[in-house]
Amino acid sequence: MARGPKSVADVAEDRASSKQVGVLRALVPYFAPYKLLVILALIALTITASVSLVLPLAARQVIDGFAVGDVALLNRYFLGAIIVAAIFALGTGLRYYVVTRLGERVVADIRKAIFERMIGMSPAYFEKLMTGEVLSRITTDTTLILSVVGSSASWLLRNMLMMSGGLVMMFWTSPKLTGLVLLIVPLILGPILALGRKLRGLSRKNQDWIAASSGKASESLLSVQTVQAFTHEVRSLSEFAGVTEKAFDSAKARIKVRALITMIIIFVAFSGVMGVLWVGAIDVRSGVTSAGQLVQFVIYATIVASSTAALSELWSELQRAAGATERLVELLNAQDTIADPQNPRAPKAGAVVFDKVNFTFPNRPDALALDKVSFTINPGETVALVGPSGAGKSTIIQMLQRFYDPQEGQISFGGIALPEMERSAFRRFMALVPQDPVIFACSAYDNILFGRPDATKMR
Ligand SMILES: Nc1ncnc2c1ncn2[C@@H]1O[C@H](COP(=O)(O)OP(=O)(O)OP(=O)(O)O)[C@@H](O)[C@H]1O
Ligand SMILES: [Mg+2]
Repeated sequence: MARGPKSVADVAEDRASSKQVGVLRALVPYFAPYKLLVILALIALTITASVSLVLPLAARQVIDGFAVGDVALLNRYFLGAIIVAAIFALGTGLRYYVVTRLGERVVADIRKAIFERMIGMSPAYFEKLMTGEVLSRITTDTTLILSVVGSSASWLLRNMLMMSGGLVMMFWTSPKLTGLVLLIVPLILGPILALGRKLRGLSRKNQDWIAASSGKASESLLSVQTVQAFTHEVRSLSEFAGVTEKAFDSAKARIKVRALITMIIIFVAFSGVMGVLWVGAIDVRSGVTSAGQLVQFVIYATIVASSTAALSELWSELQRAAGATERLVELLNAQDTIADPQNPRAPKAGAVVFDKVNFTFPNRPDALALDKVSFTINPGETVALVGPSGAGKSTIIQMLQRFYDPQEGQISFGGIALPEMERSAFRRFMALVPQDPVIFACSAYDNILFGRPDATKMR
């Protein structure tokens, strides 16, 4: 169980310092093995985006064709539209499949990588970070990344393609009206940049409080008997409720800012477009442009406006994902205080020797748990450690497995100091029956086999 973790509030406050979206780069190595999927996704995205951009062209032809009354042209265009719809449907389906699959794949890999890193960490690590927090990061933070990779990233690319393509087509359709529209852009970008920075900090804070809330819950649930024995339920609940409400409050702050951004953007974008349209309508009246051309322009302008709006929403999604990534990277890069040697020596059975071992637990630096402990246990000897509670018997067993390193003195096994061997190698020489055994959620048979899964059945 976690002993004396940092107060939840401290942890959340510490980490609220926000990082840039560039943190997302840390995810790149996880995409590297799936280059083919990435390329397929890009192709599908380009297909759907370009089809969306070609459609307005057809609309113009049809409308102007209508005006002239060219039936053959109409037929051809409607037939063409069905083919285009088929390509669009195909591209969209492909995009959904490839992108979502890629997201699920990458997140599964990240989850495994984090678990791999965490399962090997020595106990001191979990005394600083609550186990529940690690779990929260593996589940909620990776889910956030999944939503970004699985949908937001493809939306982002699609909207970027649509926005730039739409702009080019707008310009091509009517440079004059496009010029007018471009005057609106700085009005939209201003608030995004100003509020976006604020949003990032709030997102990270929000995720931190969610993690803290899971941490609290799992801490109490893992020791539910103790909680109930001390009739601590009400206080445990109020602690959990407090943290959960904090998570809600920070979510509220985030949602408010985001709603504000969305409002500003939609209003500025749409009223701007309306203004431009007004000018366009006057041009059609005076015969400067055709109705079809104006319709084409309107569709492109709508595409550009809506993809700009989508981009701003996505930007904040990305910032949330950056927060999550940052927290995952912390776990992936976690440094253990105990490490295996570069060139390990092979362990061999032999004497267990403690030589003037001094040890204090990292979270209790003022109290010596072991004070100059020396003893030798030779092969064949049976030794019992006896002493009052808190004497350090269990600590000695933990040291023998190198869960901790002594501050002074040396522990050796078979004549080799523990730090010169791989932990997993010499631990294989030890069998442990713990004070309070753990039953894993599998069959009794599998529980018995835990230490040696390849053991054969007795006949
Ligand atoms: N993870 C820990 N963090 C901080 N202090 C610890 C930790 N584990 C044990 N201690 C402290 O180290 C000292 C030795 O504890 P240890 O568990 O080794 O005693 P013990 O001899 O096994 O006692 P018992 O007979 O009750 O099992 C005690 O003062 C204990 O409070
Ligand atoms: Mg003990």
